[in-house]
Amino acid sequence: MKILRNKIELDNHLVEIRKNDQEIGLIPTMGSIHKGHKSLVEKCIEANFFSLATIYINPTQFDNKSDFENYPCDEKKDIFELEKIQCDALFFPSKEDMYPNGLKSQKEILDYRDILCDKFRPGHFDGVTTVVKALFDITRPDHAYFGEKDFQQLKLIEKLVQQNALPIVIHACPSIRLKNGISYSSRFKNFSTHEKKILDNAAKFIYEHLIELKHNVTSIILDKLKKNLLEVGVNKIDYLEVRNEKELSFASLYEKYRLFVAFYIGNIRVIDNFALHYKVKNKK
Ligand code: PAJ
Repeated sequence: MKILRNKIELDNHLVEIRKNDQEIGLIPTMGSIHKGHKSLVEKCIEANFFSLATIYINPTQFDNKSDFENYPCDEKKDIFELEKIQCDALFFPSKEDMYPNGLKSQKEILDYRDILCDKFRPGHFDGVTTVVKALFDITRPDHAYFGEKDFQQLKLIEKLVQQNALPIVIHACPSIRLKNGISYSSRFKNFSTHEKKILDNAAKFIYEHLIELKHNVTSIILDKLKKNLLEVGVNKIDYLEVRNEKELSFASLYEKYRLFVAFYIGNIRVIDNFALHYKVKNKK
C-alpha cells in the first residue's frame, strides 16, 4: 500500500494510475479503522477500482471540543489494518490540503436539515460536506464509498454530488455490525467494560422492539423502547424516530423506512439506524 503524506505525492501517484486508465475509488475516513471501514475498501477493490482511502480527523465537523480531542487515533494500527486487506493507497491530507483558506466550513446543502443529527449537532454537516468536497476536489475520484450507518450524512453527500454535478458515483454500503447488532463505530474504542455491557443491553431492547416496529410503527412502541434504554443505563437519547429513506421525513408515502437512533453511553455518542422494510442483516 502506497502511503501518501501530502498533495504533491498524491498528485504524482494519481497521474500514474490515470495513465493506466484505472478508475479511482475514494474511501474517506477519520481513521481508527474497523470492519465497517474495511468493508468499504473491500467493495472498491472487488470492483477493480484503485482503492484510495483517506484518514483525516476533520476539526470543523466536531461541535464539541472534548469529542474532537478524545477522538481515537492510531496511525500505525490503521496502516496495518488497511495493508492487510490490500488497500492500494492511503492518503493523510494535511490541514492546509483540506483548508487552504483557514479552518472554516460552508453551509452548502440545505436538504435533510434541522432533523436527526443536524438538530443536535449544529454545524456538523457543514463540516462534513466542506471536507468531503475538498477531498473530492483534490483526489477527483470516479467513485466514492460511504456507509449507510451514517444515513443522513450519506443523503447530504449524494445531494452534494448532484448539486455540483460532480462526475462521481456514490456507493452506499450496508452497515457492518457488532455481535450485538449495533454498527461498528470508531468511538467505541473508548468504551469501558461497563459501558460495553450497557451497549449490549441497549442493543437487545432495540432488536426486540424492531420486531414490533416492522409490523406497526406507534409512539407507544417508541416510548417503551426509550424507557428501556434509559433503564439499562443510556444517559441521554437525542432521537429515536422512524423516518422514510427517501426524504428522511415522517411521510408514509414510501416503501422504505428505518429506525434512526442517537444516544449517549457515558459521554460517547452512539448513532445507528435499522431498516424496517426487510430483515436486518449482518446480525450474527
Ligand atoms: P468515519 O466515521 O471514519 O466513517 C468513514 C466511513 O465509514 C463513512 O462513510 C461511514 O458511514 C462508514 N462507516 C462507519 N462505520 C461503519 C459501519 N459500521 N459499517 C459500514 N460503514 C461504516 O464518516 C466519517 O468518518 C466522516 O464524517 C467523513 C465522511 C470521513 C468526513 O470527515
